[in-house]
Amino acid sequence: MRLFARKPISALLHEGEGEGPQLRRELGTTDLVMLSIGAVIGAGIFSSIGTAAAGQLAADGVTVIRYGAGPALVVSFVLLGAVCALAALCYAELASMIPQAGSAYAYSYATLGELVAWIIGWDLILEYAVGNVAVAISWSGYFVSLLSGVGIEFPGWLVHGYREVMLAAPDSPLKALVQTAPHIVGMPVLLNLPAFGIVAAITWLLVIGVKESTRVNNVMVGIKLLVLAVFVIIGTQHINPANYHPFAPNGFRGIHQGAAIVFFAYIGFDAISTAAEEVKDPQRTMPRGILIGLAICTVIYIVVGAVATGLVPYQQLLANDPLAAAFNQAGLQRFTWFISLGAVVSMSAVLLVFQYGQPRIFYAMARDGLLPGWAAKIHPKYRTPHITTILTGLFVATWALVGDAGETYDLTNIGTLFAFAIVCIGVLVLRHVDPDRERPFRVPFAWGVCLLGAAACVFVMKGLPIEAWVRFGVWLVIGLALYFVYGFKHSRLNRR
Ligand code: ALA
Repeated sequence: MRLFARKPISALLHEGEGEGPQLRRELGTTDLVMLSIGAVIGAGIFSSIGTAAAGQLAADGVTVIRYGAGPALVVSFVLLGAVCALAALCYAELASMIPQAGSAYAYSYATLGELVAWIIGWDLILEYAVGNVAVAISWSGYFVSLLSGVGIEFPGWLVHGYREVMLAAPDSPLKALVQTAPHIVGMPVLLNLPAFGIVAAITWLLVIGVKESTRVNNVMVGIKLLVLAVFVIIGTQHINPANYHPFAPNGFRGIHQGAAIVFFAYIGFDAISTAAEEVKDPQRTMPRGILIGLAICTVIYIVVGAVATGLVPYQQLLANDPLAAAFNQAGLQRFTWFISLGAVVSMSAVLLVFQYGQPRIFYAMARDGLLPGWAAKIHPKYRTPHITTILTGLFVATWALVGDAGETYDLTNIGTLFAFAIVCIGVLVLRHVDPDRERPFRVPFAWGVCLLGAAACVFVMKGLPIEAWVRFGVWLVIGLALYFVYGFKHSRLNRR
């Protein structure tokens, strides 16, 4: 029964009020909405929509890994907007009741018990840290092409990681790097230095303090909204209606499988809940931040998706930089540098919010004894969880240095959808076990919304390739092993 011990909400609410330095409360609703847009709009819309629209073939050029949505990508966006809205309502109820840095991890501790909480905490690493590996690598791609536009070129072996080169198709120009790169003990040295560098820079920013970081985030969000507005305004004037036919070339299967990858674009509206201990009046501010942020991003995606698929035949979106490629092919080359700049800035904001969120989850887990105590230390001067911030930075930067983006998108999506489903169920459980607790925000029609929300998340997961399921299973098994080796023995709740 110890595995299913639930943590009392009253204990959760007073956490962080003990001795020693604590997190600072200084964020308002606008800051949260900006953090949300900062977290959400990034590699998903600037990179993964190409694969979502056009589909993906295996290296043999014949086997279908996933079917594309075609111009019906907008339908995928609408459906995902609805799925995420259900999950967002559930997040809003729990975040307003339990405004705690651990987000879904803390909610599950209060509702479904310690084992599920640990699994979710472990699973959230896929959303935050592994997701950021993909974003950092996509960031590097746009950054390198932006600099190449102004005549600055890097040697290939310093801007492409080992896995990226190894997984490239046999006819890809990247394969030549295996021969031309320097070798150490017979192995080619292939490193993505820009990806490493951006993560290192953001880690430093986060160690020195949250307010400074949100200011930088606000500027980046302004730029990303401006760039997408320019994309839509100029793009709309060059739409060719013929590109919308056939509208759904692969029927609902394409819409479903396209949605399963472009779900990456929606991840992040939930991430702001990790700032719960740093916002003023979290009971009111949290639900507003989550719901307003998601609504704004959904509208932007539907419009951008409609313009992108109207500009060029959807097959031509299959590129690392689909929005820039769409402009190029539509004869709007003079604007592509601006789109690339927008992509670089947007993804920097995503990196910032996720690098911010991950250490706060570790911090909450360490406070509960599920991770070693040093992980819960707050810096005496900056009042940030500096140790976990630096460790997260090292993990993400090192993986991004040698990793491949495509490999990590699916893993992030499956992990995040799983966490969303658990949060939806958690709302119902808590309504049952603790019906009288004050709920500053209540999910309307809770039974319908929560059950539909959880089912919808599982349905989107089903659109992912089998490899993603296998890797997810392995990840969970490793997590369970760690729990029994460490967390189970050191849990504060259990020791009490
Ligand atoms: N939603 C975030 C992005 O698209 C993770 O980059």
